[in-house]
Amino acid sequence: MSDKVIGVGVIGCGEIAQLMHLPFIQELPAFRVAALCDISPGVLAKLGDQYAVSALYSDYRALLADPAVDAVAICTYDHGEIVAAALAAGKHVLVEKPLAFTPEEARPLVEQAEASGLVALVGYMKLYDPGYETGLKKIAAIGTPRSIQIHDFAGRFDRYGALYTQHRASDIPPDVMATARAAAAQRIDAALGPDHAGYRDHYLLLLMLGSHDLAVLRGAFGTEAHVAYARPVGSDQLLALLEFPGGVPCYLDIGVAKYEWWDEFLHVHGDTDEVRITFQNPYWKHASAFVTVKEAVGEAPVETVLPGTPDTAFRREWLHFADCILNGATPRTPLSGGLADLDLAVAIIKAMPAKG
Ligand SMILES: NC(=O)c1ccc[n+]([C@@H]2O[C@H](COP(=O)([O-])OP(=O)(O)OC[C@H]3O[C@@H](n4cnc5c(N)ncnc54)[C@H](O)[C@@H]3O)[C@@H](O)[C@H]2O)c1
Repeated sequence: MSDKVIGVGVIGCGEIAQLMHLPFIQELPAFRVAALCDISPGVLAKLGDQYAVSALYSDYRALLADPAVDAVAICTYDHGEIVAAALAAGKHVLVEKPLAFTPEEARPLVEQAEASGLVALVGYMKLYDPGYETGLKKIAAIGTPRSIQIHDFAGRFDRYGALYTQHRASDIPPDVMATARAAAAQRIDAALGPDHAGYRDHYLLLLMLGSHDLAVLRGAFGTEAHVAYARPVGSDQLLALLEFPGGVPCYLDIGVAKYEWWDEFLHVHGDTDEVRITFQNPYWKHASAFVTVKEAVGEAPVETVLPGTPDTAFRREWLHFADCILNGATPRTPLSGGLADLDLAVAIIKAMPAKG
């Protein structure tokens, strides 16, 4: 591996940047925190002190003009425009999910990234989880599935505050984020069309929570999923029935629950065996997914649990980013996957009864 240290500019220094990305950028020898950008002056000042960084920017364009920045981590609310500008400025990109709010915004980004020769990854960290990797091997070993279930009921998000020290912004004028949300909402409504724009919240649920699960499915079974059925379930839950080639059915069940635990799994029923990958709370470090295999040994049913190694998916994502930049490794979560997930999310919403 090259001994060049990659200067990273972090754009959007909120929760996920503080909990996961910044600590790993600082810890891993391949990287250094070169610059920070946030619209909150208070957060910028605190993190500048914490990470001993003096290149602090309130405008991402100024960060992109900084020659000390080789790569960016994009952790804002609205990503598409920043991805385009970062690639145009010649920076490698790790963009948090979702890649953009609509397929229309994402499609040119995929083309731009492919033409640029730069490394561009979507931050689907679950695909780097060692338990997921083990699970994929077990799933491949059971042959064509009879049925698939992917289930993600996020637990209480307000519990993470106690796990980490975090600097929260209290100095952003309220209309700034409201304007950003309204602008995204307009683009989303246009992408869903007049008959389905009434499902904007369910679409956002798919993007903010469910895009991880669409990526997990895609990593296991590819992109050829057809949407046979989809319904909203209340205001913060949805159910869809997808069909993979050969008519393999897949139940997709996404919602926000008030559980004190995280409840997310991919379960694959084969002809003689079953495999389940159980994902851990994404905000926990050193807690990878574990895999449960049910199979027959002779005529005896045997259930085996394979714990993942005590690694952190986000850390492995950053190691892979370094491998791509320094050694030319092939990106495992390229922007094209982020676009495929947006296309499927729109197709799921459009399979619901009309609601303008
Ligand atoms: N991979 C995961 O599991 C995971 C988990 C949480 C969040 N995320 C993603 O990360 C992103 C950020 O989420 P979060 O929970 O950290 O949100 P957050 O609101 O805590 O942080 C966002 C930060 O971006 C700043 N910001 C907003 N617009 C900006 C702009 N134009 N320029 C500079 N800074 C700007 C805000 O001030 C804030 O500090 C979202 O896209 C979310 O989907 C991913």
